[in-house]
Amino acid sequence: MRVLVLGGTAWVGGVLAAEAVARGHEVTCLARGTGPAPAGTRLVRADRERPGAYEEVGGRWDAVLDVARDPQHVRGAVEALDAAWFGFVSSVNAYADPATPHQDEAAALLDPDAEPADPGEEYGQGKVACERGILAAFGDRALVARAGLIGGPGDHTGRSTYWPWRFAHPSGDAVLVPDAARRSSELLDVRDLAAWMLDRAERGAGGVVDAVGPETPLPEHLETARRVAGHAGEVVAAPEPWLLEQGVQEWMGPRSLPLWLADPGWQGFTTRDGSAARAAGLVHRPLADTLRDALAWEEQQPAHPHGAGLTDAEEQALLDALAR
Ligand SMILES: NC(=O)c1ccc[n+]([C@@H]2O[C@H](COP(=O)([O-])OP(=O)(O)OC[C@H]3O[C@@H](n4cnc5c(N)ncnc54)[C@H](OP(=O)(O)O)[C@@H]3O)[C@@H](O)[C@H]2O)c1
Repeated sequence: MRVLVLGGTAWVGGVLAAEAVARGHEVTCLARGTGPAPAGTRLVRADRERPGAYEEVGGRWDAVLDVARDPQHVRGAVEALDAAWFGFVSSVNAYADPATPHQDEAAALLDPDAEPADPGEEYGQGKVACERGILAAFGDRALVARAGLIGGPGDHTGRSTYWPWRFAHPSGDAVLVPDAARRSSELLDVRDLAAWMLDRAERGAGGVVDAVGPETPLPEHLETARRVAGHAGEVVAAPEPWLLEQGVQEWMGPRSLPLWLADPGWQGFTTRDGSAARAAGLVHRPLADTLRDALAWEEQQPAHPHGAGLTDAEEQALLDALAR
């Protein structure tokens, strides 16, 4: 196939492009070139903010894959490109209600007709508007993959890499975890997402599907990370209200316990149904494999933790305070 990846110089788009190359397709990436495109692809440098951005990627494409957040970028692409099939990495942030558990694709979106005032700030609304443009142009030749948390090697957010890294490199005698028996994770390996999207592209199969990982109790996720890292030391589970009092962040970012979501308004975010994607052929590798490879990638990074998690000093201070 002739495959065009709109993006490809960052993480998810790069894995999509690399998967397409591995399958023997002829792959072009279109981006400004902030980073390199994967080996075996042709990089067309263009800025989607500018007129004529798609002039160098004319002709008929068997598949176009897009990771955009900005509906203006999507509109420009669907107007300019001649494609048999269009795949889009959207997000479960497109849904209106992140609180109710076990919702599926029938759940209401954020305002389906609205435009984001600033796609950088209004991520979910931006994805909704991107989806609208793609579905209007391609109909059932479009695959809209509403991804949940994506992880694995290359995860620059640090959310999927923190726990195996932390268990491999405890800051002291113990590792601090949230006491979160009722919480879940749904980690989708970026490589499983890419393989599935390329499978669909090769069949010309569309659809609007929640692409989420298998629902896993958070303690089981953390125990898997611990096993992968070979940690045999103590694990200290801190009560959720205490962590919140200490200003530990949920989910992501600095001074956080990544993947932990105590907020009752977000319990649906990590418990989406996911059965439609599995029925449509999305196959998940074991969580241990994702976390093992995430750890191997994290070990090669220049600084730890990056993107998310507690520094050694933060973890030690919290463990000391909890023991008092
Ligand atoms: N991480 C998660 O858990 C998660 C969950 C759900 C969905 N997602 C989605 O996954 C996608 C992540 O994609 P990604 O990792 O590849 O990261 P990204 O940083 O969103 O990549 C954006 C890509 O678009 C290109 N780009 C941005 N502005 C451009 C412009 N003006 N003109 C041309 N190209 C432009 C960038 O390349 P240049 O900078 O080189 O131009 C880059 O290749 C996003 O759509 C995100 O919404 C992520």
